[in-house]
Amino acid sequence: MEKKKLWGGRFEGQLDADAAGINSSISFDYQLYRQDIAGSIAHAAMLGKQGIIDQADADQIVGGLKAVLSDIESGKAEFTADNEDIHMNVETLLIAKIGEAGKKLHTGRSRNDQVALDTRMWLKDAIDEITINLKELMGTLVELAEDNLSTIMPSYTHMQKAQPTTLAHYLMAYFEMFKRDYLRYADCKKRADVMPLGSGALAATTYDLDREYVAELLGFAEITDNSMDAVSDRDYVLEFLFASSVCQMHLSRFSEEIILWSTGEFNMVKLSDAFSTGSSIMPQKKNADIAELVRGKSGRVYGNLVGLLTTMKGLPLAYNKDMQEDKEPLFDTAYTIKTCLHVFAKMLKNITFNKDVMADAAGKGFTNATDLADYLVKKGLPFRSAHEVAGNVVLYSEKNKLAISDIELYTLKEFSDLFSEDVYDAISLETCVEKRKVYGGPAKASVAAHIKKAKALLGSI
Ligand code: ARG
Repeated sequence: MEKKKLWGGRFEGQLDADAAGINSSISFDYQLYRQDIAGSIAHAAMLGKQGIIDQADADQIVGGLKAVLSDIESGKAEFTADNEDIHMNVETLLIAKIGEAGKKLHTGRSRNDQVALDTRMWLKDAIDEITINLKELMGTLVELAEDNLSTIMPSYTHMQKAQPTTLAHYLMAYFEMFKRDYLRYADCKKRADVMPLGSGALAATTYDLDREYVAELLGFAEITDNSMDAVSDRDYVLEFLFASSVCQMHLSRFSEEIILWSTGEFNMVKLSDAFSTGSSIMPQKKNADIAELVRGKSGRVYGNLVGLLTTMKGLPLAYNKDMQEDKEPLFDTAYTIKTCLHVFAKMLKNITFNKDVMADAAGKGFTNATDLADYLVKKGLPFRSAHEVAGNVVLYSEKNKLAISDIELYTLKEFSDLFSEDVYDAISLETCVEKRKVYGGPAKASVAAHIKKAKALLGSI
């Protein structure tokens, strides 16, 4: 005979086997077991303290739950699909272990507030783990930037060479993106840090629960204000999926640069053998597969966000089973972003920047044309006219296959008599970079000041 479900009192028939298959979530929500047990321990302790159940029963439940935890961790306990989800599996294991007292655990609680609690706790831990990896990546960028304050490279707009900058300036641009990601995660954690237990199924409970006490035991900053919202809110998961999508997008853009830079055409970086792979047919190949995979995983991370937004969009208050569909995208995204951040930081630590190629590339493509125009402006020409003269010089250089700095002074003077010997220094790549010393710019002192600020941030988080 089939075992009766924990909720089986009002049922005469059994759940269809295929229906049970899609109803059960234990195959993925087993990952919540630690949070589920910690939440139940706090709930039982509170029930005992409030005299809602006997203190002796509460103590027995707490002891039993601790034993269930160690059974799970040592592989002794078995979860079954019959028990649907992690909440009913843990409760069933508890009752099997301690008997009657175990049946009192669920007093004043519903799986609806229980699952919200577990998910919030899991998410807070996940954010802590992810931000460790995010900080590792931010630290790596700062270190590399410090070593490359004078490494000149071209910058691009429209993927056409624009102006000279430094590798430090480039890397610190990515630091800023990851800094915002860090702050977004920290902000998202604040919204997750609200304790929903006591909301019951949706309309709270008639027992005199001490919700603040449970929040304190579990390390939550506050408690939820409305029981209907508390069981139907999944904003904290969505915010996390959004923060992760933006972060993954940043990783993907960076990956794209690494992939491009590692091509024979750019040749600006050399990937370590440890972070590239070969081809089974073409012996010469060394592919940037790791960067490609990090870029490619944006698809699943964005998909998880759009998937859950779509799941949530038509749900009336309060809890609906649709919401069980939040877990797989959450777990998948947390795992993906955490591993991508870690492997990406490692890949960067092992990359070789071809500094000569970078400097050479910055010297080509007339990246100093803006500075040529600015030179004329400083000699008194209005910017629009200076832009025109510099454009004419570029056209001449291109036709004659010369860099601007290769043009003799007497030729330059044919374009404008404002040119004199000091033009060559004014348009050298070093000057182009060093003159851009406004804060936020590529000059060594500006980037060094940014790095100092970045280090102070890293030291404080
Ligand atoms: N496994 C469910 C989930 O993940 C738990 C809540 C179930 N509640 C219910 N009334 N069926 O959402």
